[in-house]
Amino acid sequence: MEIPVSINDEKIIIKYSTSTGAEALQWLSPEQTADKQEPFLFTQSQAILARSWIPLQDSPGIRFTYTAEVTVPKGYLALMSAENPQKSNGTGVYHFKMDQPIPSYLMSLVAGKFDFTPIGNRTGVYAESSMIEKSKYEFQEMEDMLEIAEGIYGKYQWDRYDLIVLPPSFPFGGMENPRITFATPTIITGDRSLTSLVAHELAHSWSGNLVTNATWNDFWLNEGFTVYFEHRIMEALKGSDYAEMLSSLSLQGLQEEVESFMNEGKADDTKLKLNLEGRNPDDGVTTIAYDKGYFFLKYLEQNVGKEIFDSFLKEYFKEYAFKSNNTEAFLIYLDEHLFKNNGLKPVGDINEWVYGTGLPKSLPQVNSARFINVDNALNSWREDESLDAFHTELWSTHEWIHFIKNLPQDLSEESMIRLDELYGFTNSGNAEILGVWFVHCARHLYQPSFRAMTNFLTETGRRKFLMPIYTELSKSEEGKFLALKIYGHARPNYHFVASNSLDELLF
Ligand code: BES
Ligand code: ZN
Repeated sequence: MEIPVSINDEKIIIKYSTSTGAEALQWLSPEQTADKQEPFLFTQSQAILARSWIPLQDSPGIRFTYTAEVTVPKGYLALMSAENPQKSNGTGVYHFKMDQPIPSYLMSLVAGKFDFTPIGNRTGVYAESSMIEKSKYEFQEMEDMLEIAEGIYGKYQWDRYDLIVLPPSFPFGGMENPRITFATPTIITGDRSLTSLVAHELAHSWSGNLVTNATWNDFWLNEGFTVYFEHRIMEALKGSDYAEMLSSLSLQGLQEEVESFMNEGKADDTKLKLNLEGRNPDDGVTTIAYDKGYFFLKYLEQNVGKEIFDSFLKEYFKEYAFKSNNTEAFLIYLDEHLFKNNGLKPVGDINEWVYGTGLPKSLPQVNSARFINVDNALNSWREDESLDAFHTELWSTHEWIHFIKNLPQDLSEESMIRLDELYGFTNSGNAEILGVWFVHCARHLYQPSFRAMTNFLTETGRRKFLMPIYTELSKSEEGKFLALKIYGHARPNYHFVASNSLDELLF
């Protein structure tokens, strides 16, 4: 829509209402929530869905401050990317104010019945009442993460950092809405093993929310920096052997995706600087921006040393705070501030990293001692289907993920039954484990998993889990039949973001 303005116009008033079909919004019935008592609403604006619920200039290169008045039924609570209430009031009318300029994709709103519990002075968690205690336990490290992050990259600029645990249909793992990260309940495991997602969303408070990619072609400036930063936070929190496991999983995901893009003739999509002209920016949401971006920064860090690299990044976040930046300007800044100002010779293959396809030769190596142990366990499993020589009781979620991902592609049904008897994958309460295990189950149409797999696909709306399982199912005729049957029931539970991708895959 175009609104003509003249030079004397100071203000434009737009009266509008959104349609029930606005794609950012997901209206949930009580049955689709954790407590199953009350309806719930949440938004997902990134990448270009803010325009479906607010008339605005929906580009990440444009920022605004805002105030909002939101009316919800009495007794309900509403939160936005702004200063937030912690309790519901008697009127159901809430006023929001966001004084710091944000881009449109960070606009968010959530409404429903949920509680708040503090974690530290500046951090807290909102969740439905049946989830609040579990959430408080799971996210206990939030305040520590915030302090670690500030220690590396400078003061947190957004006042409070709170997180809300959404119902399971939330299509992402997390979304870095300023002051109120949205999170999937699938990271609540009871053992705090998936909290790197919180580190990731928190890290966006610098990379993304403070310094924003100017266009979706520069998406790696948001996500690559954030993965790098996430790993640094987790390294400080849990040690370098932990961070090495995260790196190794990053690398495996990246290598797989690069290989499949190359085979599918999509070499251009393996460049850090994307060209999404005429396409949906959602096409740019791949491991390239995240993990190739991450490894590029790790490569730079390894070249100049952590100390110089940290102070460079700290200065960069300060210089570009509340602004957007594109790839080209970043490279100029890099050359000047990382290399020249430190009297260093620039590394020679920056253009290959940023504008080249595939993976550069200078891709950093990853050495995860804990995964080498798992690799040995995999060899032993291939030999005699036993892990007796390994202390699997000490394995973390990440070791299990690595193990399951790298099981032989041609697992027999007997072997799967044995794995289930020994380790109970099919009935695991950990969504990341189910996410990788069900891919094997889908490939081999492993009957004993069908009930659990159907439940998982029906209840969880997180696209990262749905896509690989449905993709694997749709490779065989019988599997496709099952996929369509499950999807028929499950589709109404999914947010547009997930059903849009699945419609493309299955229809
Ligand atoms: N900002 C992203 C989510 C996103 C990206 C939504 C692009 C829409 C378009 C968020 O920070 C993110 O990366 N989430 C990941 C988790 C992370 C630990 C890799 C996710 O949801 O899985
Ligand atoms: Zn992210």
